[in-house]
This record gives sequence, structure tokens and C-alpha cells, in this order.
Amino acid sequence: MKRITLVVPLLVFLFFQYSSKVTYNVLSYGAKVNGRSDSKNAFLKAWNLACASTNPAIIYVPQAGNAQVWIKFYRVNHVTISGGTLDDQGAPLWACKSSGKTCPQGATTLGIYHSQNIVISKLRSLNSQMFHILLYACNNARLEGVSIVAPGLSPNTDGIHLISSTGVTVLNSKISTGDDCISIGPGNSNMWIEKVVCGPGHGISIGSLGWELQEPGVQNVTVKSTTFIGTQNGVRIKTWARRSNGFVKDVVFQHSTMVNVQNPIIIDANYCPNNENCPNHVSGVKISNVVYEDVHGTSATRVSEV
Ligand SMILES: *[C@@H]1O[C@H](CO)[C@@H](O)[C@H](O)[C@H]1NC(C)=O
Repeated sequence: MKRITLVVPLLVFLFFQYSSKVTYNVLSYGAKVNGRSDSKNAFLKAWNLACASTNPAIIYVPQAGNAQVWIKFYRVNHVTISGGTLDDQGAPLWACKSSGKTCPQGATTLGIYHSQNIVISKLRSLNSQMFHILLYACNNARLEGVSIVAPGLSPNTDGIHLISSTGVTVLNSKISTGDDCISIGPGNSNMWIEKVVCGPGHGISIGSLGWELQEPGVQNVTVKSTTFIGTQNGVRIKTWARRSNGFVKDVVFQHSTMVNVQNPIIIDANYCPNNENCPNHVSGVKISNVVYEDVHGTSATRVSEV
């Protein structure tokens, strides 16, 4: 099995200022801004030069197109991303969204799909337009010492979003966003989240689940030694009020500290974030064997205001 390791300690994107930085503009290596040409080789060239650089390096990607994912890994095995900062500069898009105009959806900063044996360590991700890190259909991933920062009012800027993955560990990380700190969507199993500090944001969520009639469940999730500071929710399970064969089982929320959290513990079986066109069935998602142990601290509300 081939082992690829990408060590990018000084790989800094876009406008970060360094004293002796080198810029690799993907256009100089043959990338085309026409929405048709495959610019893969240009990106690989820039990436390799940045990785080999002894000076701090910038990969410069000029504005173009509306990709759904800014940096995407697809079907990779044994990839390590170590250090570096990704700045997705989401502010203009958030402003567009809050103005009520029609805006693009925005790009997930780092998306890893159908991949195995992934390590992400000491990565900083700033101001994503959408999700900061997305793992989709991955097996065996470890995220450690990750730092994610976006303002509390930035829409849909989930820290780590997990879908259909198995064996994902998130350790010693700090996540401040405008949406979920970590969201665990359908089809995830064997998740381990430990020593994560969340806030601001919407807390650690299992869900949302139950949008589809046929939906894979969530199973075997441990969330332990987490701290929530000023978040909307602490530990949450959220399901749409729709018919679904989805499920949640074998979940442990253990040793959590809540500091001024609106809903420290919440199971919302009638999830409908903007209260628009809410489905009005009883949720079909079966929730079982959920353990809350040593969840302590302060709540910002007297009773749930969901
Ligand atoms: C549950 O997940 C953990 C990893 O988070 C794993 O070590 C353990 O074996 C899993 N348990 C079962 C019963 O699969």
C-alpha cells in the first residue's frame, strides 16, 4: 500500500503576510479559469512547490467559479495534513446571505470523500463560507489539535461535519463557529470526540437526521470531556419530523462542562431551523441507549426555548 504524506507546515493561503514568503499562483502553472479545463496538474505543481519550499509558501488561487469544495480529496488513502492555515474569507458571502439577496451557497473549505486512514493535525481553518471540514464516507480518520474559527453569526459554518463515516476521532480541538461545532449526520458509526472546546456556535449535534425515508443510522458515538462556552446548544440530537427508518443508538455524552449554554442537553425531534415549511409528521427516527453522565455547568435559559 502506498503511503502518501503531505506535510504542509507553512502552507498558508491567500493574504497572510510573511516576511519572506513565496507565492505560487496556480495560473502560472497552467490553471485555466473557464469552468471547463481540468486544472488538476497546475494545482499539483503549485502544491508540490509549496511543500518543497524552505520559505513560507502561499498557494494563490484567484477568484473564479463557484466550487462546492475549496480543497477536495477524493479516494485517498494514508494522507496526513499537518499544520498550516486555510482562510476561506467567508465574510462577503455571509453579508450577502444576511442581506436576503440571492447568493451562492458557498464552498466547504476542506472536503475529504471516500477516503481512509486520514490524519489532520494542528490545522487552522478560518472563516469558511460553509463547512470548515467535511468527511464524507471516510473510514479511520483522526483530527487532532485542530483550530477552527468563524464568528458566532456566520451562517452554516459548521466546524467538522461528518457523513457516512466510520472510526473518526476528534481530539484536543477548539472550534468557534456560527453553526454546529461538530455535526454527526446520517450513516456515521464508531465516532470518538474527546477534549473539544466549542463556542460560540450551536454545540455538538447528532443530526440532523430523518430527512430521507430510507436513511442509514448513527451508532456508537462517544463525546467526552468537552467544554461548551456560550453556545446555543451543548449536546444535541436533532431529527426532522418526517417518516424515516433512520436511527440513533449507543451514544455516550460524558464529562461535559457547560458555561452559559442555552440548551445544555437537548433532543429535538421536531427540528426545523428556520421554521419555514416545517414537516409535521412525528419523527420516524428511533433514538435508543443514549447516556448522559456528568454533564455540569450553567445554562443561559431557565427552560428550553426551542
Ligand atoms: C465503538 O467505537 C469505538 C471507537 O470510537 C471503538 O473503539 C469500539 O470498538 C466501537 N464499539 C463497537 C461495539 O463497535
